[in-house]
Amino acid sequence: MHQPAQLPLFSRFTLLSTAVLVGALSGCKAPETASTGNAATAGNTVAAAPANVAPAKPYTGENLVIGLYGSLTGSTATFGLSSQNGIKMAFDEINAKNPPLGKKLELISEDNGSKTEQVPAVVLKLINQKNVLALLGEVASSRSLAAAPIAQRAGVPMVSPSSTNPKVTQVGDYIFRTCFIDPFQGTVMARFGRETLKAQKAAILTDVANDYSKGLTQYFREEWTKSGGKIVSEQSYSEGDKDFQAQLTKIKGTDPDVIFIPGYYTEVGNIAVQARRLGLKQVMLGGDGWDSPKLYEIGGKALQGSYFSNHYSAESKDPKVVKFVAAYKKRFGANPPDALAAVAYDAAYLLSDAIRRAGAADRAKIRDALAATKNFEGVTGTISIDENRNAVKPAVVLKVQGNQGVYVTTVKP
Ligand code: PHE
Repeated sequence: MHQPAQLPLFSRFTLLSTAVLVGALSGCKAPETASTGNAATAGNTVAAAPANVAPAKPYTGENLVIGLYGSLTGSTATFGLSSQNGIKMAFDEINAKNPPLGKKLELISEDNGSKTEQVPAVVLKLINQKNVLALLGEVASSRSLAAAPIAQRAGVPMVSPSSTNPKVTQVGDYIFRTCFIDPFQGTVMARFGRETLKAQKAAILTDVANDYSKGLTQYFREEWTKSGGKIVSEQSYSEGDKDFQAQLTKIKGTDPDVIFIPGYYTEVGNIAVQARRLGLKQVMLGGDGWDSPKLYEIGGKALQGSYFSNHYSAESKDPKVVKFVAAYKKRFGANPPDALAAVAYDAAYLLSDAIRRAGAADRAKIRDALAATKNFEGVTGTISIDENRNAVKPAVVLKVQGNQGVYVTTVKP
């Protein structure tokens, strides 16, 4: 791989305490079982869950049953399927070597059809009927936000591999993630546009039905304008939309240097195709939500030369990554693993490691062990869980070339 041109180091990002969810629900306390009273987590507010959510029954399973709730079908199906592949691979490797507590890790997956409104039923089923020890999921921040209050109320540790909106882990002290958050990611892409591409005028096209897209828009805009850049147009759409010509026509009239599209791959691909048809030639910028083999199928030529931020690059020469990529391709076919697979693989290993350190299939102890995670070596980087239960990790910037995102640079937090 070529030498990465390092962007300037970023300072750590602090979480905004003004998150709508938390603010709106402050004063709502978790039941005893959903809180460890751990001093490190004091001050966290617990979001409301459906009133019928009871503390989970103590764990008595013979195996270590972990629940994945994900989008295995629908407009973001590759998110859930890749995550599931990564977790299966991790669990099989761990079970073959040295499973925690001498018990096998067992995965139960539930599909939410890429629909936020289906999440509560699916998560309640995993907790109440399958009595899972812990939850892995979701990818999409809006869907993690639908699940987190339930997991918190039930006292079931939840680890999102890849939801990047800050609000997710603010729901409570049982909610963790193994990825960076969007104040960082949005800043990475704004700085890339300003400093590397030397762009001055940006247009933004936001999915307003998506917490991730709205958050990323905010953080990108803040950094762009702070550095003296201009936002010349802000347009919106909603997940599932197919026709973006009205918004793109307005953007065209403002003649931006770059167009930031912080959405998911299906809409992003369609937006790019329609933008080129309308004669828009600008470089497009995006975030991790672009990451899918389907992006290239849908967006094809229209996205060539665009850039997006992500959690890792499958081209890395790090021996851990090389080994993971080879094993994944052997098991699941020719495509290199996308970031969802990689970060879910890491989340599965990290959870297993926490169960081992907890020393018992006890959800409160596992929560404490997750919170204490330091310097965990994953394929997506070294993961230390901070006081807000987020991972602090570098991001990579990838350039769309042919049918892949080609590595451009790494940005450290
Ligand atoms: N970060 C996105 C979100 O929070 C989800 C995502 C992660 C999508 C990684 C693709 C790759 O909604």
